[in-house]
Amino acid sequence: MHKPNMREARNRHKQEVLYLDCDNSIKTDKFVGKKYFLKTYGCQMNVHDSEQIRAYLESFGLIETEVLEEANVIVLNTCAIRENAHDKVFGYLGRCKHLKKAKKDVIVALGGCMSQEENVVKLVEEKYPYVDIVFGTHNIHDLPRLLIENTGKQNIEVYSVEGNVYENTPYKRDSKITAWVNIMYGCDKFCTYCIVPYTRGKQRSRRSSEIIKEVKSLVEEGYQEVTLLGQNVNAYGKDLPDEMSFAKLLEQVSLTNIPRIRFVTSHPWDFTDEMIDVIAKYSNIMPYIHLPIQSGSNRILKLMGRRYTKEKYQELFNKIKSKIPNATITTDIIVGFPDETEEDFNETLDIVNYCKFDGAYTFIYSPREGTPAATMPDNTSLEEKENRLQRLNKLVNNYSLKSNQKYYHQTVKVLVTGVSEKDSSKVVGYSEEMKLVNIEAPLNTIGKIIDVYITDCKSFSLDGKIKEQ
Ligand code: 5AD
Ligand code: SF4
Repeated sequence: MHKPNMREARNRHKQEVLYLDCDNSIKTDKFVGKKYFLKTYGCQMNVHDSEQIRAYLESFGLIETEVLEEANVIVLNTCAIRENAHDKVFGYLGRCKHLKKAKKDVIVALGGCMSQEENVVKLVEEKYPYVDIVFGTHNIHDLPRLLIENTGKQNIEVYSVEGNVYENTPYKRDSKITAWVNIMYGCDKFCTYCIVPYTRGKQRSRRSSEIIKEVKSLVEEGYQEVTLLGQNVNAYGKDLPDEMSFAKLLEQVSLTNIPRIRFVTSHPWDFTDEMIDVIAKYSNIMPYIHLPIQSGSNRILKLMGRRYTKEKYQELFNKIKSKIPNATITTDIIVGFPDETEEDFNETLDIVNYCKFDGAYTFIYSPREGTPAATMPDNTSLEEKENRLQRLNKLVNNYSLKSNQKYYHQTVKVLVTGVSEKDSSKVVGYSEEMKLVNIEAPLNTIGKIIDVYITDCKSFSLDGKIKEQ
């Protein structure tokens, strides 16, 4: 049994690149014809990890079900970023308990970021004995072995420190059109509110040669878009002495001729001029940047450990807009950080008014055990924080709508990814600027990049019709 220790997570582990066995090595017929239920919480990193988990489960002959009660193997891939993410998972575990009572042949496995938290693992050990397997973010590749070895006795295998970079990991991708590609794991920034450096470990970049190899094979398979994934993509390569910068990597990915490239997430501190130039130069790098600001108050930014001031952010913002005029910029904002005053909050509203973001994800600060901010004094009531969030949302939604209205009666290029969820007679996709568009167009446009004439603009999506050639 290996359990997580959050204090150890601050230590850097000597890192190696390990190549997993391509043919998925471990074989068993124990699960053939049985069903699995996989629930994913959280960010794109988790969504992509679930593609790996799905590959392992299906290599055992397990078939996916959307109905929890039908499953013989249940895997919860969890998120730890805020308390409400925890609550949802514990709610699901309650349902698993009833299921285990009613039916013998069920294995419950808990993975993802919550498994990397010491306090969660302790709780699972004490109060959730029916959870059979706990695995972490650094040893997803152990899941097949843990499933085979399962005897019904709780088994916790979570690494405290991050370990190695694994190559040749199998993926069962959700889409045949757009693909996630990890370029790095973990984060070295240690923003004071954030649990990610503890649950995902220190930054480890993949070798650029491996990344390019993966993108080239996606191009051969016909993929139209890759999204390069990392907690802080701009810092790519900084942990490897002889590796290229993120700007150079973007350039190399662009030269594979994949039709579209996106990347998330960017930290303003590591965003270089070289990067802006590369994005501006290559037409297959999409003009969309997610650039979290978190707060507009320099006092709060300092307490958050963000390493920039609002003036520096504004400078970067203006530089991007001047060199890439059609770029859309979205952001993340936290309200109610410990001891945020009305004055601090008003500075956040000011920066939103200044940048007029094309979109913003807004959150109430949630204390995470083990992070420095969790012990900072905080005298603002939850009621006040909720009130601030409402005021902020009103403002950001107003700018999202305005941003969308710019496309009224314009033509945008959309990569069509599927049938619209809202209206099955329409197809759906994203424009280059990352605008969600519902389109009147035939089904055979799925997988293609088409010109779309915009006929209506809402706060969070656009409507349009295919433009006849
Ligand atoms: N509380 C609230 N929001 C948080 N985020 C990260 N940690 C916390 C926290 N403890 C937000 C940040 C980050 C986004 C992914 O989640 O805005 O950019
Ligand atoms: Fe968390 Fe992002 Fe800060 Fe890293 S850069 S600690 S992932 S908020």
